[in-house]
Formats: sequence, structure tokens, C-alpha cells
Amino acid sequence: MSKTVDIDWENLGFDYIQTPYRFLAKHVNGAWQKGELTEDPNLHIHEGSTALHYGQQCFEGMKAYRTKDGSIQLFRPYENARRMNDSARRLRMPQIPEEMFVEAIKEVVRANEAYVPPYGTGASLYIRPLYIGVGPNIGVKPAPEFIFTAFCMPVGPYFKGGLVPTNFVISDYDRAAPMGTGASKVGGNYAASLLPGYEAHERNFSDCIYLDPATHTKIEEVGSANFFGITADNKFITPISPSILPSITKYSLLQIAKERLGMEAIEGDVYLSELDQFVEAGACGTAAVISPIGGIQTQDKFHVFYSETEVGPITTKLYNELVGIQFGDIEAPEGWIVKV
Ligand code: PLP
Ligand code: COI
Repeated sequence: MSKTVDIDWENLGFDYIQTPYRFLAKHVNGAWQKGELTEDPNLHIHEGSTALHYGQQCFEGMKAYRTKDGSIQLFRPYENARRMNDSARRLRMPQIPEEMFVEAIKEVVRANEAYVPPYGTGASLYIRPLYIGVGPNIGVKPAPEFIFTAFCMPVGPYFKGGLVPTNFVISDYDRAAPMGTGASKVGGNYAASLLPGYEAHERNFSDCIYLDPATHTKIEEVGSANFFGITADNKFITPISPSILPSITKYSLLQIAKERLGMEAIEGDVYLSELDQFVEAGACGTAAVISPIGGIQTQDKFHVFYSETEVGPITTKLYNELVGIQFGDIEAPEGWIVKV
């Protein structure tokens, strides 16, 4: 295989591209079988699979980055392993040994090395670990067998333009319940976000922002990313809630804001009535990276942050630091980078 395939790397969006290999392992009779790489992108599963009927499935999103010297690295992959196991616990699925998870990811990346975008193109290799309950079953109970698989594809920005402000709308719908599965990366949360997301797109917004499901007074998160705001007095504030996804990017930005930018970094309540405190705002996540929020449409008003067209200075600094670490240009805090 040539070093990299011939793709228009600079113009990639966030779309499915089939790459040659994926990893697949089965959990049968209470134990993990040795997994292996396969070339078949189709899963052949039983009609009684709980993943199909009762949503017993969870997934992860992570990326591999090509550095200046041509090597490939992962960003905090053990955090994804831990979060997948947290999701699995919530859904009564067996734990996946962390080493097995990370080794599987490395194997997939190595096997598809020609699809890891070259350094300097801004693109990266998105990896999708997927964990599903399978096998014959009809009652509402955990599956008899499970499949863990991971596939990957080169991607560009999730929100149009990447580091360009876009507008979001506050949703009237909830994506999760107060003590439900909002903090788990399970398909049901995303199924619940499809109609609100569609309606937001129809109104020309990038996506919607959900409020806390108990009181509908506080910002929770975007359908596909966490939320953060920057105050005029240099605070980085991101919502705290039991029903949002514990974003690895968010925790990384909290640390970067505090330790590298000398900001006060806070996880706290973000009341919709207090949006005026923010001079900049953004959505953050693996796919979203940092997507600046130009404005937010609430029920009665359109609230603009820094600018609808320009990225604010603090958001730019956070972005440069995060992306610099991910692509190996800036030294990472201990343990964040794992070489493939
Ligand atoms: N919130 C939701 C609903 C997401 O789907 C994601 C993406 O994974 C995030 C937040 C960001 O999480 P992370 O930074 O771990 O990718
Ligand atoms: C990610 O950022 O990895 C996600 O899973 C978000 C999205 C594509 C659902």
C-alpha cells in the first residue's frame, strides 16, 4: 500500500468513507474471544439482538492524528475506553478490558494507515468503536452475546467550515431525562436528537442546544458536542449536569484554560437568563473540535456572542493549544498522547 491514498484531504467533510479494515471481537459464553481485523463492513447479526430492539448498544468517537514527523498518535484513548465501560455498565453489558480496547484501536489505525490524513491538511482519522448486544432474545433483558467493533475513516470538520462561527438554536425537546442515559454514549440519546436536529437544520442552524430536562432553565449541551462560554473577566465556564456526556475534549479544555491560559476554569450551572455574561462561546468535542458559536436563538431573542463571522481571541487560543497538542506540535500534558 502507498503511504497515503489519493484523497482531497483539505476538503473532507464528516462523511462515511469505507476503509479496508475494521476490528471485531465477540463476547460469547461469558468471555471475550480473541478479536481480529476483517474486511467486511457489514455486520451479520441475529434478528433477536437487543441492540436492534431495546437499544442495548453504545459507541465512542476518537481520532488518530498524523504528526509533522509522519508518525501517528491517539488523543487520550484510555478515556474513551473508560467512558465506553461506563456506558456498558449503565446498559448491563460486559466490561471491555482497557488494553484490549486501546490495542484494537491501534490495530485498526495501523491497518488503515494509508487513510490517515497527511500532517498539515487539518484532517484526521475518525475512529468509531461500537459495542452491541446480539444473539437470540425477545424479553427486555441483556443480550446473551456481544460484539465490539471499531472502524475508521478520514474526516474534516463536523460543523461547516471548522473554525468558523455558526449559529445554534435552543431546543424545546429534551435529548435525555434527568436520571436517564444522557451521560452515557448510547444510541438512544442520538435517536432522540434526530427530529430536533432536523428542525434546527431546516431553520438554518448548525444544531440545537438542549436545556436541562428538569427545569429547562440551564444550558446542557449541543446534540453532538458540549458547550462552553468565556466571560469578560476571563473565566472558562462549561455546564455541569448528570445528563450530559462527560466530554473528553471539555475536560481537556478545562485543564488547558487553567494551566496554559491562566484562566479560571469552572464546571457550573449555565443559566439561559445569564447568556449576557459570555463574550465568546463554543461547542467542543472530538468531531466538533472547537466550533465557535456565533449566536444562539432563544424563544424570544437572537443572542450574538463575539461575532457572527469572526472567532474570538480566547476561543482561537484554546483551539490552537488543543489542536497543537493533538497533532504533536505542542507538548501535551502527561499521558494525553499515545503513539500508534
Ligand atoms: N456531547 C455529545 C452529545 C457528543 O456526542 C459528544 C461527542 O463525542 C460530545 C459531547 C463531546 O465528547 P468528546 O469530547 O469526548 O468527543
Ligand atoms: C464525536 O465527537 O466523536 C461524536 O460522537 C459526535 C457525533 C459524531 C455524534
